[in-house]
Amino acid sequence: MTPAIQEHVLKKEISKTLPVASWGMFDAWGASNIHPELTKDEVQKLSPSAVKIPFTEEERSHISHETDILKVFDKQMKFVSSYFLGYPINLNYDHQELFDFMKYSINNCGDPFATSIAGIHSRQFECSVLDFFSKLWNIPKDDYWGYVTSGGTEGNLHGILLARECHPDGILYCSEESHYSIFKAGRYFRMDTKTIPTLPMGEINYNLLEKELTNNLDRHAIISVNIGTTVKGAVDNLDRIIQVLKKVGLPRERFHIHCDGALLAMMIPFMDFAPQISFEKPIDSIAVSGHKMLGCPMPCGVTICRKQHVKNLEQRVDYINCMDTTITGSRNGQAALYLWYSLRKKGIAGIKQEVM
Ligand SMILES: Cc1ncc(COP(=O)(O)O)c(C=O)c1O
Repeated sequence: MTPAIQEHVLKKEISKTLPVASWGMFDAWGASNIHPELTKDEVQKLSPSAVKIPFTEEERSHISHETDILKVFDKQMKFVSSYFLGYPINLNYDHQELFDFMKYSINNCGDPFATSIAGIHSRQFECSVLDFFSKLWNIPKDDYWGYVTSGGTEGNLHGILLARECHPDGILYCSEESHYSIFKAGRYFRMDTKTIPTLPMGEINYNLLEKELTNNLDRHAIISVNIGTTVKGAVDNLDRIIQVLKKVGLPRERFHIHCDGALLAMMIPFMDFAPQISFEKPIDSIAVSGHKMLGCPMPCGVTICRKQHVKNLEQRVDYINCMDTTITGSRNGQAALYLWYSLRKKGIAGIKQEVM
């Protein structure tokens, strides 16, 4: 069997074992069928020279019409989507009802809780999504702040930035199997970063973490906890890390915990015997991707933190009529709408079923 056939057989086998989700399989791009590969001629139609943007009419006269290129691109997307199995994103979605909204330039620039100066926004949907995650991770409405991000990376950058603003002298501790966005945050924000080796299953080595913390008790501790590592899906045991902090004698005001839950922060609350992440524990922020478990057709995510922390970031910007609290300025209002729609349509029962 060729690898492509093996993958096809595997996909069909897996689909037989999946329960039927409350929100039926989406087939707008034909994901449940296997689509043909591009011909050599079609591959040429998507080559860099074929898709280049002409500067002159003479150049334009030698290239294909956009409609022809897009037809081939659609065929390629169908083909690659029908074989898509490896990267942990959920393709079980149906957002056709939202397609019409793509014509609007929806921008949620600024703080989601501020009144927008422009009318073309989807803040009401964004706030509803944030309320959902605040409930999922057990933080009261009045105590949380958050926003819809461009993905897990932005949520991690925001969470680590908040930590540094709360503890400017803090050392960032994370396991060697943390996502590269955590190390990037350490570099961007010029933080001392201690990389802790992992146990064979991919969790942080708790004894070595304890040793490093003990050696640096004069500095505040900023810990990035992995709620699902990229390669092994390993979950650092939050309760055990909290116990280590207690054991070395770091009081609550001297440590800060960010949870990188890109994939699993959306799944763990629906698993009966998983070690839970919750703001009832001494943690400070959680970031999740929206295009992974939930299945949004564009990169996006959500970050939630304790409200008091964001005060340390606030800068008043008059022409957006609110505080600047987010990493980016303009923010994708479509993403908020897609997240809201996915959560509403799947519902708690649908998500739980998919997680199972
Ligand atoms: C553990 C972990 N954190 C963060 C990220 C970054 O998320 P995104 O790709 O949404 O920026 C990923 C992505 O794979 C990840 O696996």
